[in-house]
Amino acid sequence: MPDTLDPELRRALAARIRYYNEMGIYDFYRRETRGEVAETAVFDAVAASIHPESREEMSPRKAAAVAVAVEGNIFEVLVPKPEHGVSDPAKALKIIREDLGDCTRCPLHKQGRKQIVFGVGNPATDLMFVGEGPGADEDRQGEPFVGRAGQLLNNMIKAMGITREQVYIANVVKCRPPGNRTPEREECETCSPFLMRQIAVIKPKVVVALGAVAAKTLLAMNSSMAQLRGRFYDFKPTGVGSSDPNWDGCKLAVTYHPAFLLRDPRQKGEAWKDLQMVMKELGLAAPRANA
Ligand code: URA
Repeated sequence: MPDTLDPELRRALAARIRYYNEMGIYDFYRRETRGEVAETAVFDAVAASIHPESREEMSPRKAAAVAVAVEGNIFEVLVPKPEHGVSDPAKALKIIREDLGDCTRCPLHKQGRKQIVFGVGNPATDLMFVGEGPGADEDRQGEPFVGRAGQLLNNMIKAMGITREQVYIANVVKCRPPGNRTPEREECETCSPFLMRQIAVIKPKVVVALGAVAAKTLLAMNSSMAQLRGRFYDFKPTGVGSSDPNWDGCKLAVTYHPAFLLRDPRQKGEAWKDLQMVMKELGLAAPRANA
């Protein structure tokens, strides 16, 4: 950072970084913007064959706040949502989308979004991926993960022996943050109830949180990615009951955001370990190399 940085800007940046650190976010990456040179990193079984000795740990970061799993809020009042009692997940998702409407609930609606990016995929899936928020490509096409990070996510899904069409993909915030910045806490808090409702009607067996924003929003935990990864959490969407009394929540795993993996491909081996844990849970076998 140049020494000539305007003191006002320096203070503002320091405050912003403190805020992210308080949320437990230490890994900063720039999400893709249009016109960046395409990187042909392919996530496939190659990730599994990375030599352990060539895998590097992430650079040490400050100790994060102690992780405290939030128990179900016993004081939470569950107001029935319009999709309650609708057993067809596709219909229920449509109702949630209609409820979201032409959303103006948070400042993102007036910060240049072209459209709301609700989610895509199989409403009856066992596996859901949750990202942070739409980027420029997603904003233009109205579908999550269609840019470079999306291509890597597709390859990650393929490496698991399944296709993008078989899973459901959504984001914490449904509108593009300007300049692909990280969504603000208020924006996540305003938008995440819709994500919780999407999860409650899809009732997957496993949710994979891609990156710190998704992990922290879903788990309400304030820990570093290093602390969050590598295990399953029992997860139930907050603020919404499932219309299926037999669905008692699901497992949640945390892995690196594909945009982070594009910037630091050495971590692909670690992400592959996370995905293998998920595959084991779902009884999925990786495709054979020449299959
Ligand atoms: N990054 C995300 O977190 N979500 C998208 O949909 C695209 C990029």
